[in-house]
Amino acid sequence: MPDISEDGRTWVLSGPASSYAVHITERDELLHLHWGPRIALADAEALAARPLPDHWPFESSLDGREEYPVEGGPRFTRPALSVRGAGRRGTEWVYEGHEAGDGGLRLRFRDGGLLITLHYRMPPATDVVERWVSLDNRGPAVEVLRADSATWTLPERDTWRLSQLHGRWGAESRLARSELTPGEKVVGSRRGHTSHQHLPWVALDTDATEERGEVYGCALGWSGSWRIAVARLPDARVQITGGAGHDDSGLLTLGPGEAYTTPVFAGLWNDGGFGGASRAWHAYQRDHVVPDAGRDRPVLFNSWEATGFDISEEQQRALAERAAALGVELFVVDDGWFGARTGDRAGLGDWTPNPDRFPGGLGPLARHVHGLGMRFGIWVEPEMVNPDSELYRAHPDWVQHQPGRKRTEFRNQLVLNLAREDVREYLWERLDRLLSSAPVDYVKWDFNRCFTDAGWPDDPYPQRLWVDHVRALYALLDRLRAAHPGVAFESCSGGGGRVDLGVLSRTDQVWTSDNTDPLDRLAIQHGFSQIHPARVMAAWVTDSPNAMLNHRSSSLRFRFVSAMAGVLGIGGDLTRWTREELAEAGDWVRLYKEIRPVVQRGDLYRLRPPEGGLSAVQYVLGDEAVVLAWLQAQRYGEPVPALRLRGLDPAATYECLETGEVHRGGVLLHHGLRVGLCGDLDAAVVRLKRK
Ligand code: GLA
Repeated sequence: MPDISEDGRTWVLSGPASSYAVHITERDELLHLHWGPRIALADAEALAARPLPDHWPFESSLDGREEYPVEGGPRFTRPALSVRGAGRRGTEWVYEGHEAGDGGLRLRFRDGGLLITLHYRMPPATDVVERWVSLDNRGPAVEVLRADSATWTLPERDTWRLSQLHGRWGAESRLARSELTPGEKVVGSRRGHTSHQHLPWVALDTDATEERGEVYGCALGWSGSWRIAVARLPDARVQITGGAGHDDSGLLTLGPGEAYTTPVFAGLWNDGGFGGASRAWHAYQRDHVVPDAGRDRPVLFNSWEATGFDISEEQQRALAERAAALGVELFVVDDGWFGARTGDRAGLGDWTPNPDRFPGGLGPLARHVHGLGMRFGIWVEPEMVNPDSELYRAHPDWVQHQPGRKRTEFRNQLVLNLAREDVREYLWERLDRLLSSAPVDYVKWDFNRCFTDAGWPDDPYPQRLWVDHVRALYALLDRLRAAHPGVAFESCSGGGGRVDLGVLSRTDQVWTSDNTDPLDRLAIQHGFSQIHPARVMAAWVTDSPNAMLNHRSSSLRFRFVSAMAGVLGIGGDLTRWTREELAEAGDWVRLYKEIRPVVQRGDLYRLRPPEGGLSAVQYVLGDEAVVLAWLQAQRYGEPVPALRLRGLDPAATYECLETGEVHRGGVLLHHGLRVGLCGDLDAAVVRLKRK
């Protein structure tokens, strides 16, 4: 419940360590007051009483101070809301009232027939502020060119540094940090999905380190095109504005009586450095976003790198038997089990088992897998269709396309128009039937190309399909989850092309990257961990040399320890692993199951980043700690540095379960732990237990 001033014009929302305060002036200007350490209502009122700076002719006193800048009036910053209607541009709102309660706040405004509500919520025991906006049109039709979820305002500081996660296919979520210079830095996706190129997250700091300092972070919960603009305005003011859609050329129209709710844009202030910020984001996602996150994810096997499209029931049975012997708990048949899908040219859209490959359907294999003590999963890519498919031949108009224009193919496939009711119903009916036809426990849901010809002939406002596609995806996932509560879902998009808080609120884990090279993965995982927890980060051990990307050879030890930093999976061709390799792999799987609660539910400390020689992460849960360390290359015979651990009790003693040695907590924290690594691509797991 927010604190509210007596005049009902100043509000303070507080979490365990932070507060967020806003104020409405007598002229109905909504001003941002504070985001940072906890403050009292009296502090917010004192801030509200400070006069705005003088209004010079070429500057606006509102710019950089408003909570949700609309378009028009004395404003020159990027508008968060841009609407057209009744021959007018922009918004001139009047404040109508507020509702407060349950950690939330709603501020209501009206401009003619358009009701605009700003929503705030701090879920219990977190410092994350969730913000979103709803529009409810009670007047004539309006066109919404843009409706961002929120604008975040940072306090005045001399300089700011921006952290972002960027990449491409096979190289997602890599961390970049740079000074924020005057002007705007825009990240986003105009591809129809979250994208490999940028994760919808930014962080800003002045001089933070991994362990110390203030960090502001914002993450968007949206799986379509999106944009986050970080603006450094005059007077060193910084605002971050973000929401669905990439440009301002039209998001949707709202007819009389129609409403729109933006996705959530979540913000977090933390003063525990980058590490503290990540731990707070992880706890928030485990407690409030990811379904059923208290339950640990099983070790899975996935057939993709082992068998590609060339699959048969016989061969999957053989793989399943080997996987079960290693201790694998979930066996997933990837692409190639359905329709005429013997390569990437045909079959997408026809979600029935290929009769040559699975003459009795998926049931016999699923039951065999269950008989081996594992759960059974399958791959699907429901939003897509190959032109060479029964579905496309029957409904060529079901794909996104523009009248009289080419239909651009990527990987020989087109995107279905999920804004259409008939397409949505077809997918629901097919997938529901599929999940009812065989005992399926897990669905890997893929999305392997971007939007290109996002048109919808005959629809009066085809532009809406960008938003409606994502909503249809969410609705389909929600409906399938409700109808099949035992089924878990993995979000995949050619690897990590669809990772965001929106999809994570309805999936159980994500496929981090198609790059399974264990060394490259360390950097990808380092970036991923800035925002998302190990509990959702799938990582597989595949064959060596790495066949997908770079032919790098690495030991099973290095591959396993790299993949054990997340949700462990195996994706190699087990029929070609030697008896010794299978025995060693079985030992690693056993060890992973022991450390799994600490990895998947513990606090993560990044001890050393994956640049250069030695890198390491540590997880702490209750009395247990796990260290995973990797040595890329030892140079000049130099000894490997000791790892200064974190999150331990300095007054306690800890037993190393690997060596039986007993360590003082204070010594581990200050002088560090030596891990016996040497040479190239070496790795170690160290378990510590408080005595
Ligand atoms: C994508 C996924 C892979 C695999 C293939 C199958 O590339 O990221 O893991 O499922 O599709 O076609």
